[in-house]
Amino acid sequence: MLGAPGVGKGTQASLLAQGQGVPHISAGDILRQEMKSETNLGREAKSFVNQGKLVPDELIINIIKNTINGRNYQKGFILDGFPRTIVQAKALDSLLQELGKKIDVAININVSNDEIVKRLSGRRVCENCKENFHIEFKAPRVMNKCDRCGGRLVIRDDDKPETIKNRLEVYKNMTEPLIDYYEKKGLLENVSGNKSILEIKRDIEEVIRKKGQ
Ligand code: AP5
Ligand code: MG
Repeated sequence: MLGAPGVGKGTQASLLAQGQGVPHISAGDILRQEMKSETNLGREAKSFVNQGKLVPDELIINIIKNTINGRNYQKGFILDGFPRTIVQAKALDSLLQELGKKIDVAININVSNDEIVKRLSGRRVCENCKENFHIEFKAPRVMNKCDRCGGRLVIRDDDKPETIKNRLEVYKNMTEPLIDYYEKKGLLENVSGNKSILEIKRDIEEVIRKKGQ
């Protein structure tokens, strides 16, 4: 799942994972969990994440390798927020090759920067199961309570206006080149993110259905 911060990668990856019965692997969620548990890895990642910078390639590549290698993902998986640099994309290609797997599709969600700022500033995340909500666009049934597990909803530390600005800049410089990378491999599918959550979900399912034919 490709796209700038806040376009809805996590929202769509979570829906898709439930629909397809495959795991959703979110690089950001894994890093936030490590930070919360104050592991060595979490401590190393913290200053990067909280400033809206990318963590070093080697660190995130190792995390993803351990996550994918450690489990039996027979039906595949959805990657959200990884890869984010060309170095990471190449590392993923080698890893999948070693495992005898391949990328079926790289879905790139497009949304304007103004809309992204609205989405990120109203986002709330369950501190327990990580489900995403939005105070206006995807409000929980009970204020500040997760619909899925009843956990408390919180604001992410990197959703402050200044950090959002940094994340958008980092995306442009480091991650946007991946669009071209996957386009050249014939794997890229662009999906408009300027629609409702359910409409985008249907568009993505349609892309996947066509790929499977
Ligand atoms: P990460 O957690 O991946 O953050 P991100 O890419 O900035 O993306 P977000 O999670 O903010 O947005 P999203 O696209 O998932 O949108 P969401 O579905 O939540 O990474 C965080 C940090 O970790 C990075 O900055 C970096 O430091 C580090 N990191 C992670 N991966 C790394 C890597 N590979 N290499 C190096 N460093 C890495 O939606 C946003 C909001 O909008 C929600 O409130 C949602 O409810 C709402 N919404 C969603 N869709 C719609 C819609 N269609 N209409 C209206 N509202 C909507
Ligand atoms: Mg996300």
